[in-house]
Amino acid sequence: MSNLSGRCRVCNAQISAFMSFGRMPIANGFLNEREISNEYFFELAPAFCSQCGMFQLIEQPQPDKMFHGHYAFYSSTSRYMQLHFENFANKVITDILAGRRNPFVVELGSNDGIMLRHFHERGIRHLGVEPSVNVADVARSRGIRTISSFFNRKLAEEIVAEHGRADVMLAANVMCHMPDLPGVAAGARRLLKPDGIMIFEEPYLGDMIAKTSYDQIYDEHVYIFSATSIARAFAPHQLELVDVAPQITHGGSMRYTLAPKGSRPATVRVAEQFSRERVQGLDDAKTYLHFKQNCERSRAHLMQTLNELSEQGKRVVGYGATSKSTTVTNYCGITPQHVEFISDTTPIKQGKLSPGAHIPVRPYQEFTRAYPDYALLFAWNHAAEIREKEQAFVAFGGRWIVYVPDVEVIS
Ligand code: TYD
Ligand code: ZN
Repeated sequence: MSNLSGRCRVCNAQISAFMSFGRMPIANGFLNEREISNEYFFELAPAFCSQCGMFQLIEQPQPDKMFHGHYAFYSSTSRYMQLHFENFANKVITDILAGRRNPFVVELGSNDGIMLRHFHERGIRHLGVEPSVNVADVARSRGIRTISSFFNRKLAEEIVAEHGRADVMLAANVMCHMPDLPGVAAGARRLLKPDGIMIFEEPYLGDMIAKTSYDQIYDEHVYIFSATSIARAFAPHQLELVDVAPQITHGGSMRYTLAPKGSRPATVRVAEQFSRERVQGLDDAKTYLHFKQNCERSRAHLMQTLNELSEQGKRVVGYGATSKSTTVTNYCGITPQHVEFISDTTPIKQGKLSPGAHIPVRPYQEFTRAYPDYALLFAWNHAAEIREKEQAFVAFGGRWIVYVPDVEVIS
């Protein structure tokens, strides 16, 4: 391991990595054959700050290496996620916006407009902040107001000058992407009205530890949050954690509601979550050493399974070229010998190679055209939606290989 230690991005304490996943490429960096020689790698090493409780990466690539004009992630590819964000938007409209005059909603990392479209359709003033230009263009083409920038205190100032302050700030699977979390918190405090509310949901540390879902750890996820670490990170900016609500999305997420200090009481759920996190040992360094052992065990078991199938001449295809799968393929050492190709419905990924492992990504039709013997479920967070859709694969005799929470072969 090269970069083992550094400073906590939130509280500036000295921190050290408790493990390394090794040299890792950009998780969404799908590439062509001729780009292989220029592929960018960094050391993927997570650390836990015992001072403020923030789980974070020691090293992260520059943001413009990850979020740019050809960002490969389009939120609207999953039907379930479309429904999830429609429900999220409806809840905000009925619970918070009702009764407010000409309210203003800002979403950070609004991607292709999967959530803001519901505000747009109802004529509610809104603004998306989305640095990846290609996905922002999709949102703009749907009439959703979007600016392509990274959010910080300065941008908050500019938004306030042009549109006034926000009633609601939203984000989903985005806050954990922003290395300058204190800057984001300061910007949020500036942008929110005194009775404004900020709601965001992100992969949850408690789920990752409980399920050994180490594939949540990749370049974009510079943090994996807990209720404890969120409360501590926002408190210096006079934003208080007033509610939490677990979500099943992205393999286990938490929705955090924050409000200017003293503007509304915290629900009992917040204190309950803090105590659950203490019981789980999320503030205890030993928990992370145990997690490391679980990762190593999971890797050994998965590779034993794949090696055996490969020796038996079985066809194994990956299902879903997820960002998460980049950590799994590179950490475990999965090659095109183990996995013939990865099936994915996202056009921008098709015909490319997966980052680091260089497994070809092919259109979904290739999967259905000639079913493999086994499908390695990289998109395990969509297991319910996918297994319902792929009953014909199982009827054909195909089997799923899953690795969260345990490595298993299932029908
Ligand atoms: P996602 O779940 O957002 O994971 P990550 O955040 O790790 O990238 O990505 C899902 C990927 O799987 C996306 O590339 C689309 C693909 N996919 C399919 O190919 N088929 C499906 O049925 C679903 C639900 C997803
Ligand atoms: Zn810290």
